[in-house]
Amino acid sequence: MEKIIIALDGHAGCGKSTTAKAVAKELDYIFIDTGAMYRAVTYYFLSNNVDFSDAVEVENALKEISLKFVLNPSSGIGEIHINGENVEPFIRNMEITSRVSDVASIKAVRVFNVAEQQKMGKEKGIVMDGRDIGTVVFPNAELKIFMTADVTVRAKRRLVEMESKGVETSLEDVESDIRNRDHLDSTRKESPLKKADDAVVVDTSGLTINQQVESILKLAKNIISV
Ligand code: DC
Repeated sequence: MEKIIIALDGHAGCGKSTTAKAVAKELDYIFIDTGAMYRAVTYYFLSNNVDFSDAVEVENALKEISLKFVLNPSSGIGEIHINGENVEPFIRNMEITSRVSDVASIKAVRVFNVAEQQKMGKEKGIVMDGRDIGTVVFPNAELKIFMTADVTVRAKRRLVEMESKGVETSLEDVESDIRNRDHLDSTRKESPLKKADDAVVVDTSGLTINQQVESILKLAKNIISV
């Protein structure tokens, strides 16, 4: 059966990763959470006191970084490793979350991550979620989805997710962080978040995860079985 690339872009906190993961599992495709790559780079920069505003420091730091997703056999999820260290447990907290937009707006960081992502999708059979997948990473992806949802709905969902991981925060903080990241992601100079002209918009405000997954699977199966 023909394998395709599914590009899943959209706003922070609308269930992209959960949906992408389930779609990939159903199709027996690889799932790549590109947000984890920007988070991992942010973690590395903060841990190594890299000055984000210094282009030379950033370039030198990127030369030291090797990113890899390693499958955790018990969860079935690919976890992001940086230079062999599993950093998955350290990249979802508020500190990283509040700094990642700054790092994601650095051109050299985007060039580095995009090149890695294009390598990962060479064989197709991939569901990749992010902000620029349908516009920059795979402009020829066979299926492009642009997911969005009401900001308060997104904040409530993210709060539940963070609480389940033991991260302490409040709805107010999560909502203000999401608004801030929406703004930064959509207005940055380098690859701002924007819908590709040929992307299908899925508003998930009133949808369950199952309904999101089903709607995307239906679109994918229509293309695969043509
Ligand atoms: O999806 P997420 O919230 O884990 O993403 C973390 C940050 O990384 C988000 O603020 C935007 C940025 N990002 C990006 O600029 N491009 C991508 N392809 C994925 C994420």
